[in-house]
Amino acid sequence: MSAEHASGADHTQGGERDGADVPQRSLNSGSATPVSVVACANGPLLVRGDFELVGTDGQELPRTRRTVALGRCGASVLKPYCDGSHKLIGFTTDP
Ligand code: FES
Repeated sequence: MSAEHASGADHTQGGERDGADVPQRSLNSGSATPVSVVACANGPLLVRGDFELVGTDGQELPRTRRTVALGRCGASVLKPYCDGSHKLIGFTTDP
């Protein structure tokens, strides 16, 4: 059994978007604004620029702003977006 199959990942259904086999589309090409990701201390990742945000089902997630805050504390009820819950739970990025 291959490592891929052992992990249970099924890359044929378009729902797994975890790495190297994800097709690179128009990111950072042409006139697109370069993408930047800023890790906020004790908070979310702020992603800016021209990018697509794709959910676990392979469908593009809606964006209403050019800057998106992606949660990384696990407490948001709006995953993958940050809803500010990191402050309530005392999330820290300290090791
Ligand atoms: S990082 Fe903000 S809610 Fe988790």
